[in-house]
Amino acid sequence: MSATLPSRTGKAPGAWPLLGHAWQLHARPLEFLSSLPAHGDLVRIGMGPWPAYVVCEPDAAHRMLTDSRTFDKGGPFFDKARVLFGSSLPMAGWQEHRWQRRQMQPAFQSDRIEQYALVMGEEVDRMTGRWRAGQRLDVTAALTTLTLRIVTRSVLAAEAQDEAVAEVQESLHTVIDGIYQRVMLPLGPLYRLPTRANRRYRHACDRLHRAIDGIIAARRAAPGGNDLVSMLLTAVNDDTGEPMSDVDIRDQLMVMIGAGFETTANSLAFALWLLSQHPEAEARVHDEVDRTLAGRTATTADLDGLTYTRRVVNEVLRMYPAGWFFTRVTTTDTTLAGRHLPKGTALLYSAYLLHHRPELFPEPGRFDPDRWAAQAAESLPRGAHVPFGGGNRKCIGDQFALIEMTLALATVCTRWRLRPDPGSTMTVQVRGTLGPGPLPMTCEPRGRKSADT
Ligand code: HEM
Repeated sequence: MSATLPSRTGKAPGAWPLLGHAWQLHARPLEFLSSLPAHGDLVRIGMGPWPAYVVCEPDAAHRMLTDSRTFDKGGPFFDKARVLFGSSLPMAGWQEHRWQRRQMQPAFQSDRIEQYALVMGEEVDRMTGRWRAGQRLDVTAALTTLTLRIVTRSVLAAEAQDEAVAEVQESLHTVIDGIYQRVMLPLGPLYRLPTRANRRYRHACDRLHRAIDGIIAARRAAPGGNDLVSMLLTAVNDDTGEPMSDVDIRDQLMVMIGAGFETTANSLAFALWLLSQHPEAEARVHDEVDRTLAGRTATTADLDGLTYTRRVVNEVLRMYPAGWFFTRVTTTDTTLAGRHLPKGTALLYSAYLLHHRPELFPEPGRFDPDRWAAQAAESLPRGAHVPFGGGNRKCIGDQFALIEMTLALATVCTRWRLRPDPGSTMTVQVRGTLGPGPLPMTCEPRGRKSADT
């Protein structure tokens, strides 16, 4: 592939003094990132005053993702997020990360996912059971409530009390938006001014901390169980023999919930929107879910029968990967895409950029779930489809998310068809995650077919 490119490394045009390309990244990030492969496999940009290289080629992305010791978490954007999130799993350097991941991985093994899938089913039933024929609702908001309830109940092993969920949900949105802004537009001391927005952000952080601290305290008082909270309460650092402090545990839980609800909600909302715009694909999903489910709630036993629904999920994650941009930093002198990189070089990879390379995915703007038919998908180079990243920093919730999205989409589609307002359009919103923004749609009940028709 590199033979078709003008050079292996290059420089992005249009840098501003001091800001570099920070404004382009802030104001039109997707267009800016998609323009970079024209300048090389590894393209130098300015993130404020700091240079960084954007990895535009799948082989190089794969190498970077799978050598997490050389290409560690870090970089100027990331270091700001670390201040806000402590040394939780996504933030930890490779050495810290090894023992943390080992201790937390069992919470995502298949037997646990089976348990979470029961919660997923209950929550989808709860959501679809409240919808009424002709009701107009914001699908993104409904799915955000759904996935937040699912991840909160799964991760915290807490009963999803309406009040507690509402508390976490309200504060989390403000906190996530505030963090995104602080990371992308580093205005330093300005964020300490007592403006309304800054006060709102601080207040939301305090509320969120209080809510999670309450759960930790309750679990310390009544230990036991084999869920994530109990794993964190008993986790011990291999090197120091130290347990995690309550603040460490809170950071881990906050990050896990933060990483696990908006991502899946937005992906599901994109899926329902795309299906509403592509009647043929929608008809194939309907046909499949009616044959497999005939109106009942999907379970993990149905996954084999939901081949096309899974393709839709994969295609949504290709077109609109919720985690659209992440950074790394070199821990030693190394070479990538033929370029020498000194220790401390910041790198950036974007699933959105890679997933929209026409050499890898012809007509990348076209919604085509059949790209994921087994044979076609197998011929993709490594590092081309990376909605969950790769290597040992790959999303710990990837199976959780894939199963959640497939089961939720199947159950919704066997019961309801969501119709957009006539003439409405969808605009991709780029924040910490990619999302479709508010999506007003009308609920239309689907006629039930019996399983044997
Ligand atoms: C559509 C849904 C999701 C997407 C697209 C997604 C995407 C990602 C990506 C791309 C990474 C790697 C970041 C990097 O390379 O720096 C990641 C890491 C992570 N994700 Fe997800 N994620 C999703 C759902 C979830 C869920 C449901 C959870 C938890 C319940 C979760 C928890 C995490 C955690 C803890 C990490 C850090 C892993 C580590 O460093 O070991 N994610 N996610």
